[in-house]
Amino acid sequence: MASLTIRKLDDELKAYLRLRSARNGRSVEEEVRVILRDLADGRVEPAEGIPAVSTAPAPRPASSAGEPRITLIIGGGIAAYKALDLIRRLKERHIEVRCVLTKAAQQFVTPLAASALSHERVYTDLFDAESEFDAGHIRLARECDLIVVAPATADLMAKMAQGHADDLASAILLAANRPILLAPAMNPLMWNNPATRRNVLQLRRDDVHTVGPNAGEMAEAGEAGVGRMAEPTEIAAAADRMLRPPKAQPLSGKRVLVTAGPTHEAIDPVRYIANRSSGKQGFAIAAAAHAAGADVVLVAGPVELDDPSGIAVMRVESARDMLHRVEAALPVDVAIFAAAVADWRVASEGSQKLKKTTAGMPPLQLVENPDILATISKLKEKRPPLVIGFAAETEHLIENAKAKFARKGCDWIVANDVSPATGVMGGDRNTVHLLAREGKEVTVDSWPVMTKEEVAAALVSRIARSVGTAS
Ligand code: CTP
Repeated sequence: MASLTIRKLDDELKAYLRLRSARNGRSVEEEVRVILRDLADGRVEPAEGIPAVSTAPAPRPASSAGEPRITLIIGGGIAAYKALDLIRRLKERHIEVRCVLTKAAQQFVTPLAASALSHERVYTDLFDAESEFDAGHIRLARECDLIVVAPATADLMAKMAQGHADDLASAILLAANRPILLAPAMNPLMWNNPATRRNVLQLRRDDVHTVGPNAGEMAEAGEAGVGRMAEPTEIAAAADRMLRPPKAQPLSGKRVLVTAGPTHEAIDPVRYIANRSSGKQGFAIAAAAHAAGADVVLVAGPVELDDPSGIAVMRVESARDMLHRVEAALPVDVAIFAAAVADWRVASEGSQKLKKTTAGMPPLQLVENPDILATISKLKEKRPPLVIGFAAETEHLIENAKAKFARKGCDWIVANDVSPATGVMGGDRNTVHLLAREGKEVTVDSWPVMTKEEVAAALVSRIARSVGTAS
C-alpha cells in the first residue's frame, strides 16, 4: 500500500487542504482521508478548481454542540495541578477546552491527564510536524473564543509583554486575535518584583485580562502573601463572563465585596475564640448581588454553607486573614461587611495544646483585632464608593448603631437586634433598620421582619438605586 507524504504536495494543493481542514475542524491528514473516502463513494462535487487562499482570519468553526471554546495554556508552576480542576469547571459550564502545556508545565501535570479531562488532543510542541504543518499555533490561537493562561507564570507573562514566540504557548499568545485571560501564580516576591509589576502593567495596557492572584499561603513552607493562583471556580466564572457577558442588569459591571460569617481566633492548636454567626445573611447578600449582575467576591469565615452558585468564596479563619483577603480584592464599587468579626484574639497563640496545671487557669491575654470595616472606610486610595457595615446589637439598637456609624466611617449601616429572643443568630429571619448618611443627618429606615434572602434582595435593590446602572 502506497503512503502519501503531505509535505511533498505542491504549495497550491497544500494551501487548499489547509484551508479546507481548518474550515472543517479536522487535521490535514483526516481531511485527505475524507476526500479519498468521498471519491471512492462517488460523493465528490464537480471540481471547481482550487480556491484562492484568504489571509483574513477565518471565523472560528462552531464546536459540535455550538458551545464556546477555550484554548487553555497551562504554564509551569506548582499551581498547574489546579489547571486540571479548571478543565472540569469549564466543562461543567459547557465550555469546550483544548489544552496546551508548556515544557515546564509537563513537570507538574501530564498531557495524558489534560487530554483525559478535556476529551481533546493536547498540544505541547511548536515544532510538531503533524500540527505545525497546517500552522497549528495559528489555529490554536484563532479556533477558540478565548485564550486562558493558568497558571500564568512570571516568565510567561514576561515573554508576552515582550512579544517572544519561541515555544508553542508564546507563539499562540503572539498570534492571538481573541481575548486573553491570565491567572497569574507565583511567589509573592516575584509578583512584587518591579519587573513583574512593569510586565503586568504593559499586559493590562495591551487589553489582556487577569483574574487573581489571591493572597494566601504559598507552596513554599512558611511563605504567604499575594501570589496564589485564583481558585479554578473563580477562573471559570471570569472566563464565562468574558464568553457570555451578562445582559444589562442593575449591578452589571459593578464589583461587590461581601464579608460573611464569624472568624475563629486560635488559642492553641485545638481551641479558638468564635461567635454564633452562621454567615447566612452575608451569603444571601452575595447571592442577591450576583443575581443582580454584579461580579461578587465573598470572603467568609468558617461557616457550614456551600458556595453560592457562580460565586467564588474565599474561605478564611481569622480576622487578620479576612482583612488580607479584603485588601487584596480591592478596588470594588461596593463593600458590604456582614461578617461578625471577633473583636479580640489571644496575644500569643500557643504552639502546643495548653495543659491544666495545679497553678490554676492559664492567663489569656487578649489583644484587639484589626477593624476591617473601619480600615476600609478610612482608606485614602481605593476606598470603595459605597461602604456598608452591620451593627449587631442586643440593646439600644438605634442609639448604638448611630455611635458605630460615627466610629467606623462607613456610608450605610444595617442595624439588627441579635438578642437571643429574636433568633436572628443562626436563624432564617431578620429585622433590620437601614441607617444612611444624608449630609450631616442620619436617616433611619425600618424594614418589617423578613427572611434573610428578602433582606438581601431589598438591600441589593437599594444599592442598585445608589450605584447601579438603574440609578
Ligand atoms: N467589623 C469589622 N472588623 C472588626 C469588627 C467589626 O469589619 N474587627 C465590622 C462588622 O463586619 C460589622 C461592623 O464592623 O459590619 C460592626 O460589627 P459589630 O460586631 O456589630 O461591632 P463592633 O465594632 O465589634 O463593636 P461592638 O462589639 O462594641 O458592638
